[in-house]
Amino acid sequence: MKILMINGSPRKKGNTQLILDLFERLLQEHVGISQDIITVSLREKVIELCHGCRGCMVNSEEFCPCKDEVKDIENKMKKADLILIGSPVYVEDISGLMKNWIDRMAYRCHRPFLNGKRVYLFTTSGAKASNHAIRTLKHAFLAWGAEVIQWDNYSMGIRMEAEIARENLKNRLRSVYN
Ligand SMILES: Cc1cc2nc3c(=O)[nH]c(=O)nc-3n(C[C@H](O)[C@H](O)[C@H](O)COP(=O)(O)O)c2cc1C
Repeated sequence: MKILMINGSPRKKGNTQLILDLFERLLQEHVGISQDIITVSLREKVIELCHGCRGCMVNSEEFCPCKDEVKDIENKMKKADLILIGSPVYVEDISGLMKNWIDRMAYRCHRPFLNGKRVYLFTTSGAKASNHAIRTLKHAFLAWGAEVIQWDNYSMGIRMEAEIARENLKNRLRSVYN
């Protein structure tokens, strides 16, 4: 099973990566999946701002003036059996990094490509609920043809509490699954 994790945080070792690391461990230790897990950190990818020309929508994405790594991420998504995607909440919505990538993929709202592929999405926030951010993510992935899944009825908006000690957080999350 190929699993793709996409991190929409500009922080290399931030809260979103912490949750992805925990997912990876859970998948390895509880589900027995130890290989074929890859992470794409959007901050490490060259993703230009959308020019708004609509070439990708009206004609084809080959007409896009941006020559960067958006297609490479799309190809990784096509190959994955399961996609985990996380974004920090920035002012009640997803990060600009994540939103820019989603905007660049807007042509896929017209030409869905995920064909029922399972996607688990989550946000991390400081203190507040993140319904708006989750809605943004969910809307994009549903429009691209994915099946958005939710595990164990746990909220997809994970409040990290800005000051929480890392070890406490890890223990708290571990106890959810043990
Ligand atoms: C620019 C900015 C805006 C933020 N806006 C919110 C917000 O509206 N609500 C909230 O609860 N937390 C907010 N936060 C806190 C982050 O969502 C939270 O710390 C998140 O877990 C950071 O994830 P990361 O470490 O992976 O980047 C904001 C943080 C930043 C840097």
